Amino acid sequence: MQKQFIYQGNGQVFLMVMNEIVKQGIEEIRRNLDLDIGFAEGKTVLVSGGAGFLGSWTCDVLVESKAKVICVDNLVSGRRENISHLIDKENFEFVQHDIANPIFFDEKIDFVMHLASRASPFEFKEYPIQILKANTLGIWVALGIAKKHGARFLYASTSEIYGNPSIIPTPETHAGNVNPIGPRSCYDEAKRCGESYVITYRIQHNLDTRIARIFNTYGTRMRADDIYGRVVPRFIEQALKEQPITVFGDGTQTRSFCYVTDQVEGLFRLASLEDAEGEVVNIGNEEEVRIIELAEMVKKLTNSSSEIVFSELPKDDPRRRKPDISKAKRILGWAPKVGLEEGLRKTIENLSLEKKALPKKHF
Ligand SMILES: NC(=O)c1ccc[n+]([C@@H]2O[C@H](COP(=O)([O-])OP(=O)(O)OC[C@H]3O[C@@H](n4cnc5c(N)ncnc54)[C@H](O)[C@@H]3O)[C@@H](O)[C@H]2O)c1
Repeated sequence: MQKQFIYQGNGQVFLMVMNEIVKQGIEEIRRNLDLDIGFAEGKTVLVSGGAGFLGSWTCDVLVESKAKVICVDNLVSGRRENISHLIDKENFEFVQHDIANPIFFDEKIDFVMHLASRASPFEFKEYPIQILKANTLGIWVALGIAKKHGARFLYASTSEIYGNPSIIPTPETHAGNVNPIGPRSCYDEAKRCGESYVITYRIQHNLDTRIARIFNTYGTRMRADDIYGRVVPRFIEQALKEQPITVFGDGTQTRSFCYVTDQVEGLFRLASLEDAEGEVVNIGNEEEVRIIELAEMVKKLTNSSSEIVFSELPKDDPRRRKPDISKAKRILGWAPKVGLEEGLRKTIENLSLEKKALPKKHF
């Protein structure tokens, strides 16, 4: 095994990035999880994709909860700045590595959380094979580690496995409508394959597994730049720069947006509750909005004079997306608490701060 420890801590960037909203968010998540997260203290948790948006929040919660965290990330879409404040901590280790290639650990690993995967639709176009590999070869490597150590396993799957769903709100029992040869196939079919790996390792090797079907999540540390920008940070960035806000299609397609603290709390509930062993659970917000409404909200909240413009709807773009979260409510005792307007306000505030703090290349 070859580990690379290539990152030097940077206190200044830490102060800038770990600003009040992130710190408060992590405290809030830990408060809400007080009863459930006992599994973490003194345990070793491998987080693949730990330098990304959701992965870095996950690492933060674990480090604060006194777990030993091994963050494996090849930094293709993650940022060093997301973890720079953790790098000097005794209970945090960063390994720069592509999880699609085998890697072995001698120390006992208690839990594997597999979040590694590019996730922006623009990346589907540019790097489809990397995405396919992270969710097929990558999950095979991650499951191999869990099997060797008898570790619990959590997979960050996605609402995209439902494709263009015919049941709204969509329950976990819906098998989905996915185009295996369409432009989104590298992501949605790869995630479906990833779920199949998880379930098969559970059946054949009796692994303790959990699958989170994550619906659109946004918030601080989600990138706004270049091909990494998903709809919420992209709209905010465009509005802040007074550039046209670009809506695909006529904007009547819907999504349901979950704020990051709610999402991470849901993931940890699924990860930690004994009764959740083997479960597949939708984690998302039920508040369904049309994309045009989202654009208008962002414009209003940023006091922007940007024009809203329309461009061609990408092929196979789902018409509606709204999770049925009754299972999450029932077995995890979880429901989102942050409404879209409140979450957008926090994200706008932080994106403005990050823009000042991070090197220019990120924007
Ligand atoms: N944020 C959402 O709305 C959302 C929705 C559904 C599912 N998910 C899933 O959650 C996970 C995290 O998504 P995110 O939004 O934080 O995206 P992100 O791009 O911010 O994070 C992904 C991280 O994985 C790393 N990575 C990618 N390929 C890798 C590889 N082969 N080896 C090692 N590291 C690799 C990236 O560098 C990055 O740090 C992904 O698996 C994604 O599919 C996210």
